[in-house]
Amino acid sequence: MPKANVHRISVVGLGKLGLCLAATLAEAGFQVQGVEVDESKVSAINRGVSPVYEPGLDELIKNNSKRLRATSRYEGTISSTDATFVVVPTPSDKSGAFSLEFVNRAMSEIGRELADKKCYHLVVLTSTVMPGSMDGFVRPILEKTSGKVCGKDFGLCYNPEFIALGDVIRGMLEPDLVLIGESDAKAGELLSRIQDTICTNSPPIERMEFVNAELAKISLNSFVTMKMSFANTLAEISEKMPGGDVDKITKAIGRDKRVGPAYLRGATGYGGPCFPRDNIAFAHQASKIGAQALLAEATHKVNLSQVQRIVGLAEGIARKPTDRVGVLGLSYKPMTNVVEQSQSLMIAKRLGEGGYKVSVFDPAAMEGAKQVLGDSVQYASSAEDCVRSSDLVVLATPWPEFQKLNARLFKGKAVLDCWRFFGEQVRNVSSYTSVGIAKEPGA
Ligand SMILES: NC(=O)c1ccc[n+]([C@@H]2O[C@H](COP(=O)([O-])OP(=O)(O)OC[C@H]3O[C@@H](n4cnc5c(N)ncnc54)[C@H](O)[C@@H]3O)[C@@H](O)[C@H]2O)c1
Repeated sequence: MPKANVHRISVVGLGKLGLCLAATLAEAGFQVQGVEVDESKVSAINRGVSPVYEPGLDELIKNNSKRLRATSRYEGTISSTDATFVVVPTPSDKSGAFSLEFVNRAMSEIGRELADKKCYHLVVLTSTVMPGSMDGFVRPILEKTSGKVCGKDFGLCYNPEFIALGDVIRGMLEPDLVLIGESDAKAGELLSRIQDTICTNSPPIERMEFVNAELAKISLNSFVTMKMSFANTLAEISEKMPGGDVDKITKAIGRDKRVGPAYLRGATGYGGPCFPRDNIAFAHQASKIGAQALLAEATHKVNLSQVQRIVGLAEGIARKPTDRVGVLGLSYKPMTNVVEQSQSLMIAKRLGEGGYKVSVFDPAAMEGAKQVLGDSVQYASSAEDCVRSSDLVVLATPWPEFQKLNARLFKGKAVLDCWRFFGEQVRNVSSYTSVGIAKEPGA
């Protein structure tokens, strides 16, 4: 049973993050009511099927079908629950800031429902927002539409997640930290207890005012992207230094506690729905208030240049237009079907546009890839098929199942391995090039 003094929770927005949160809350013993505007997602969830690709989610939904229900209507949802998490999209606008359009709609609906509620309710925003949004936008909307006072009649918290797609459930159960921005101590205390019930590892809970939590959320991702761009810079330097090997360097420097080993891997650049845009938003926020974020700007530039760097390496290996290039992996990272800002996808696109015959394969992201790549590439029916039909194989996204490919398939082929992923067997039978490792031996 929940340790928190709250038993019924509503979750608004059942997408990649919200549905995982709803299922995790149900697993922790809460009675969960999901609200989702997409009817097809609602009916899938109520049939016990996950409409979202995420390892472990299907099982959680099935196991908790009695505690997790979904609806497309807000009516009665707020009055029948004690707390509401809002996990709707906050897409980036042209300037790089996050739009509050969906948050506005969701909060207005919640506010109207709150108007009739007789007792206290906690509203929690999980979606990533720009600094200043909670005090300047979310609190006023809720107060206006409900006619109630924040901090007295209802509590408001900002509780962003630091999860990685493909690892969301574990990330929610065992986070490194829980970040809470709070309207007042009562709201923060209640949310701390809910989080304490979900988490299995008793993480540190950092509680603060809204503005600092909002800044902390985007600065964490901006910092991590800086580390990734640094590792990619190191990979490029290593490739060009006779004897250079990026893994030996990152392994050594990662042992220093001031650096740490996480996200220090010279490979393709970062992508996905969070890292690129959170870093851009961080730089945007700085320039908006007259501060400088030169590191964030440089990080972004370094990241953009990685696609051409890897395409350049491929062009140095494969002849145009005769050689066929196979790209293994298209999602922005393994264990997800998301192709948003995926550098693997960009590499395949650039190679196709550059005059190569390109064949691609991904275990989960073929549908998403087709929307972007159209008929500029061929879609292999399997990883084996992709390798067989290629002269050069580019390992772009390191899906674990590619490890099972028979090394004989690679015999006589060229391989460009962006992640130092393949072992000796593949290296020995192919003409093997690795990102981050010099072709020329050291002295
Ligand atoms: N996906 C991630 O890895 C991740 C990580 C950290 C933070 N976030 C943040 O979480 C938020 C949600 O991201 P996501 O990836 O889950 O998005 P998503 O697009 O996968 O899901 C959002 C869901 O909200 C629904 N929705 C939109 N408006 C609604 C409304 N008014 N009422 C009810 N439902 C509504 C959509 O139909 C959709 O199913 C964003 O702010 C994002 O930046 C996402």
